[in-house]
Amino acid sequence: MKLSTYEPDALPPGARSLSYGLFCWLNRHTTVLRAIGALLRRWPAIGGRFGVVARASAVKDVLERTRSFSNTAHAANMVSGDYLIGMDPGPTYTADRDLVHERLDALDVPNASDEEARKRIAILQAGERTFDLIEGYLMWVVFHAMKPLFGSATDAVVAGSTDQSAQGAVDEGLQRQYMLEIRYVAGQLLAGSLATLELRRRAETCGDALQARIDRVTGPIGTAWGIKSASEDIERNAVGLAWISHPVTVQSGALVVQELLGRPKVYDQLWSRARSLGDRVWIDADFRRDVRDHVLELMRFRPIFPLLARDVPRDTELQTGARQNAKCPGGGKISLLSVAALFDPRAVPDSGRFCPNRNWGKEDPLRYLMFGYGYRQCPARDHAVDILTSALIGLLTLPRLQLARGEGKAISYDGPLMLSMRMRIT
Ligand code: HEM
Repeated sequence: MKLSTYEPDALPPGARSLSYGLFCWLNRHTTVLRAIGALLRRWPAIGGRFGVVARASAVKDVLERTRSFSNTAHAANMVSGDYLIGMDPGPTYTADRDLVHERLDALDVPNASDEEARKRIAILQAGERTFDLIEGYLMWVVFHAMKPLFGSATDAVVAGSTDQSAQGAVDEGLQRQYMLEIRYVAGQLLAGSLATLELRRRAETCGDALQARIDRVTGPIGTAWGIKSASEDIERNAVGLAWISHPVTVQSGALVVQELLGRPKVYDQLWSRARSLGDRVWIDADFRRDVRDHVLELMRFRPIFPLLARDVPRDTELQTGARQNAKCPGGGKISLLSVAALFDPRAVPDSGRFCPNRNWGKEDPLRYLMFGYGYRQCPARDHAVDILTSALIGLLTLPRLQLARGEGKAISYDGPLMLSMRMRIT
């Protein structure tokens, strides 16, 4: 299995930049990744030789064997310290998992995300005809919806201070600064081990800043959470929750809108329905359910994690779908091409077609593979889908939207991250 000996850190800088560039390009061109995935699904033994699985059955199998294929593969890219997603099961993992569930129970979605989406849409309607989808809309809808994660400590976290006067000075500028910081910390998880050293350095700087910020405010966070844990436990969870929650949801929202605008007929249908509903657009349950189905289908075509990695702690075998299992030497890594699994015709009927109302039958859990699978699946899955549904309903209430081409590129990237997506209200 070649991947086990593949070490990006050992590459000369030129080769590293080149492979990182290729990785980012593939991330933006999921159709190419899907084509590679189709080949690996057809000849799974080839993927097996390189430690890559692509068939839905194989991807699910790996994600369910949590002790044989470990989440510690994420650890090297967690620049602000250890957190749940990169841990093996154990007492710390269990305690952190309980805490994240408790914090997620405090969320009030879709009410909070609807409220902020409506507020931001009103601002956009009154403003210029062009706006940045990320900085002018998604960032805020997600931020507002996630506020209960830190509850009464939110201002202290954003100000990085327990000082009441500093917290009183929290304005949108400071909130934006905080969101930038967590974006680069999360970005390192997306960029993975191939990220150039410059990029990694920037993520580390932001990771250090995030840790220092949280270190100063563990008191108010403990109070908001109603717990008296050791400050290192509060710090680990607060740092982790900060970077894992917001940036990935915002980026997923941007990808959803990008995919939707690339499908003018689908957009027109949803837009016309929103228009005919008028004021009922926010309360019509059928419409919301349909928009939610669209969000999931759009995410299937543009998952933010088209690939997942796992460590192999000890020698084992891997079912790839080929006649013989692939050998996995301990100490190696394997890659799961989840985007290929999401399009596997053996599991997904009419897999290549955009079909929000597809009947997934017994494969319904696979529909959520963009959030992982099985025990280690994202605990915020349903909240995130609800938030993106609110955000999309809001955008559908605007006059028609298109990407603001013409003044340079409408979408600008920073590695695998989308920095901005300029939209025009027509
Ligand atoms: C659209 C938004 C989101 C997407 C696409 C997403 C995706 C994912 C994926 C793919 C995983 C599994 C990674 C793996 O198996 O290697 C994961 C895990 C996780 N996510 Fe999310 N996520 C999103 C939003 C959130 C939010 C809002 C939170 C807030 C708390 C969150 C918290 C977590 C945690 C704590 C884990 C680790 C779970 C574990 O290892 O037991 N995610 N997410």
